[in-house]
Amino acid sequence: MARILLAYVSDVPEGKGIVVYGSEGQEIALFNVNGDIYALDNACPHMEGPLGEGDVKEGCVTCPWHAWQFDLKTGACINMPGDDATVIDVVVKDGTIYLEE
Ligand code: FES
Repeated sequence: MARILLAYVSDVPEGKGIVVYGSEGQEIALFNVNGDIYALDNACPHMEGPLGEGDVKEGCVTCPWHAWQFDLKTGACINMPGDDATVIDVVVKDGTIYLEE
């Protein structure tokens, strides 16, 4: 299993996301909630808006395009149940965020 370095926890501010790239250019949105890191596929399930550019509040990100909201832990869509964002499994070790493939 390959481990790909995505970012350092210190790179991910609280209250908004950042976008990083996995292998093959996959866009991954990273979020920091009270020091816990969450990762979603950056493409919003509605029309592929950039979730990593959305605002984060109370454990949810709001898509900047049409304001659908997603739970960062589960990817569950709050406004449109069932149209969920894709959770990406990441590992945090010693302040570094990795994708395991
Ligand atoms: S593209 Fe995200 S809510 Fe429309």
